[in-house]
Amino acid sequence: MNETELMLTSILGCRRVDLYADWKPLDEFQRLHLDRMKSERQNGRPLQYVMGWTEFMGLKLCVDERVLIPRFETELLVESVLKTAEKISRQPLEILDIGSGSGNIAIALAVFLEKCQVTSVDISEEALDLARENAKISQVSHEINFIRSDIFNAFKTPNETNKFDIIVSNPPYISSQRIPHLPIEVQFEPVLALDGGVRGLFFYEQIFAQAQLFLKPDGYLFLEIGDDQRKDLEDLLKKYSCFDIIEFKKDLNERDRILILCQTRF
Ligand SMILES: C[S@@+](CC[C@H](N)C(=O)[O-])C[C@H]1O[C@@H](n2cnc3c(N)ncnc32)[C@H](O)[C@@H]1O
Repeated sequence: MNETELMLTSILGCRRVDLYADWKPLDEFQRLHLDRMKSERQNGRPLQYVMGWTEFMGLKLCVDERVLIPRFETELLVESVLKTAEKISRQPLEILDIGSGSGNIAIALAVFLEKCQVTSVDISEEALDLARENAKISQVSHEINFIRSDIFNAFKTPNETNKFDIIVSNPPYISSQRIPHLPIEVQFEPVLALDGGVRGLFFYEQIFAQAQLFLKPDGYLFLEIGDDQRKDLEDLLKKYSCFDIIEFKKDLNERDRILILCQTRF
């Protein structure tokens, strides 16, 4: 669909085919709505924010400036988790998602895994509000516990009740210096969702340092990574003998985008 078709299907609540099969001229309110959407696009506001929704793994999610717009790479991250989850016999699977955003990862896992309990944390209360709304729309509110937390901080001391089979995260991983130079559309997204510190590695360091405390034996860690971060992450991981690298997964452009780790077996 082109942008105008997408805007029209959004305004009219119809399918693309209906635009042509059953076209009726827009009323004044609809025309004003379309004009406003077009002018927001001209100012660089991302189409997904203008429409107020996007699709992630076939699920419809509401999005606005409180949250990052889910990306295609993150579908690869979720698909990797789903594939590994099939091989784990424990049920329900207990999963921790760090950095809820729109709730995309937690919601997709809750929808596509037969039995799981997902804890999803974000430091942004605004993002959590929207993520909870999205979980309601996808009818998985009972499977997800959204909690405000600075990474693992809400959990305090790890114990048997807060250990997970899988930890998954698409953390902020853009270096702080690059943020002002990002394309105009990306500048509309929350800095909190983008800024990964001086070298973009801040969240990986924090997660590597603490994840083993919150993983069950044989637990897995799945991370989305920037396409130029493989070497830095391999270097960083030399400090953490508690993890074995299972795989760096590439996207369709052959760039390393997903890192899969598991607890080292001694
Ligand atoms: C790259 S976005 C990912 C959002 C969503 N999961 C996705 O895949 O589109 C990173 C998320 O981490 C959250 N975040 C930033 N700092 C955090 C922190 N210290 N603790 C927990 N979450 C944090 C941001 O608010 C943002 O929602």
